[in-house]
Amino acid sequence: MCVRSRVSKGEVVSRDGEQPLWWQSRVVYQIYPRSFRDSDGNGTGDLDGVIEKLDYLSDTLGVDALWLSPFFPSPMADFGYDVSDYCDVDPLFGDLATFDRLVAEAHAREMRVIIDYVPNHTSDQHPWFIESRSSRDNPKRDWYVWRDAQPDGSLPNNWQASFGGPSWTFDEVTGQYYLHSFLPQQPDLDWRNPKVKHAMFDVVRFWLERGVDGFRIDVAHRIMKDPELRDNPPAPGAGLVRHKDQGDYDAQLHIHDMGHEDVHEVYRDMRTLLDEYSDEQPRIAIGEIHIFELEVWSNYYGGELDELHLPFNFGLLAVPWDAAAVREFVTELEGTIPDGAWPNYVVGNHDEPRIASRVGPERARIAMMLLLTLRGTPTLYQGDELGMQDVPIPPDKVQDPWGIRVGDLSLGRDPQRAPMLWDTGPNAGFTGPGVEPWLPIAPGHEGLNVASQLDDPRSMLALTRRLLAERSASPALSLGDYLPVDVDSDACMAWIRQRGDERYLVALNFTDQSQTLSLPLGNRGEMIASTHMDREGSEALASFCLRGNEGCLLKLTPA
Ligand code: NOJ
Repeated sequence: MCVRSRVSKGEVVSRDGEQPLWWQSRVVYQIYPRSFRDSDGNGTGDLDGVIEKLDYLSDTLGVDALWLSPFFPSPMADFGYDVSDYCDVDPLFGDLATFDRLVAEAHAREMRVIIDYVPNHTSDQHPWFIESRSSRDNPKRDWYVWRDAQPDGSLPNNWQASFGGPSWTFDEVTGQYYLHSFLPQQPDLDWRNPKVKHAMFDVVRFWLERGVDGFRIDVAHRIMKDPELRDNPPAPGAGLVRHKDQGDYDAQLHIHDMGHEDVHEVYRDMRTLLDEYSDEQPRIAIGEIHIFELEVWSNYYGGELDELHLPFNFGLLAVPWDAAAVREFVTELEGTIPDGAWPNYVVGNHDEPRIASRVGPERARIAMMLLLTLRGTPTLYQGDELGMQDVPIPPDKVQDPWGIRVGDLSLGRDPQRAPMLWDTGPNAGFTGPGVEPWLPIAPGHEGLNVASQLDDPRSMLALTRRLLAERSASPALSLGDYLPVDVDSDACMAWIRQRGDERYLVALNFTDQSQTLSLPLGNRGEMIASTHMDREGSEALASFCLRGNEGCLLKLTPA
């Protein structure tokens, strides 16, 4: 047993070389506005609902950056990821004045606000696409990707859309196909057209001028495709890292329909734009990069760290619940990211089955400790602080187009989008009594909601608050080095977070059986939190016992 010699790379520092930057030390909380809090009783969450809950987020929970999923005008074919006006708020969610109030109220509480930015595709109801499809010689025709059928009448190429079926839809009016990586109602923009880039950068400016602190860029790697639109080859039978089954889409190796190398130039230019607005505080870009090959994924930081501040790291979604596998993944990640780049971790979002359903409620507590104590910016999905699970959706209530389109409701993402649970009332405080929420409320919510967990010192919420409070008070936990500890056990994973004299130990038991670790880290540590929330005081480390499915955070006493 020893502390391994490899220490993670140091923290990123600001351009003047002094202060760590806000997006490194903060915890991002993802709000899916439709499902967070309905302030006007129409069954759908809204921006006023978010404002109502800012005190919860800031004071009770203790997160300090918010990511808002789309709230822009949209026909809602993909629940807001089909935008028909990038520079407004859908009336369902409020208006620009509500948004401005949200930003002001969040900033007054020293919270940062990150919004979704959807560059790969618009809605088919966006005025740009309406113009584009009106005639072959419309000035906006080349804002989208239009192609003729092949001479034999077949589709322009073999690309498959993420939500099932081919990526091409035939338009009767002009007799050509248009490209859509997702639904036919989400036509892909052509980012090689400088006018598109210019218009979409104006969108970035619009929101920066309204005071947002950053963007979460939807499917950031997909905006540049092979310029020759070559067919994708078939996927090899084995060896690909996938975090979930996507049906026919998995039959191809997606090398030509996304991630062409000129994508990096776009993000370098976007970074320059963000930097122009970063006098007081950096404005940041977080990219949704669904790439599991770390070498390729890490290119999105940029060769000079001049692209995305944080390419979302989804690796923990793909790793099995196994100490050795998680340890190996973290070690590989720490070894792959470029010098000076800052890691980040995600265990859930509006597209993924809930962590508590994937690994079980007890282990979800360990996952929370993992997320909040690894080196890097954590993103926490609404409701995961309660241990919310996927909510079963009766077939007649299904909303997500994905499962409906491919005829496999198991692909649908409604279960993880069910409303946030605030209290024991009939609609869990999400919306008024007697209102039908847009998705069903979790059965049994009377025992699992914010109000009841606030009364329970051992609840998941109590654990999350404890971890967030310690993290925000501790430079070692938020910014310190990551030092793996070799525990000679495939059941457990342990590491130290260290900055200056401050040192914490995290030890996680991934199995149902208790494990005793001998940790040569000085005599004793002070228990900050067990995931069971029932241990306090000083612990001897020479023989340290973790119960089944227990994680512990200890502050190490200076030797
Ligand atoms: C990723 C988003 O997270 C997902 O919800 C959406 O359906 C697709 N991108 C398409 O925009």
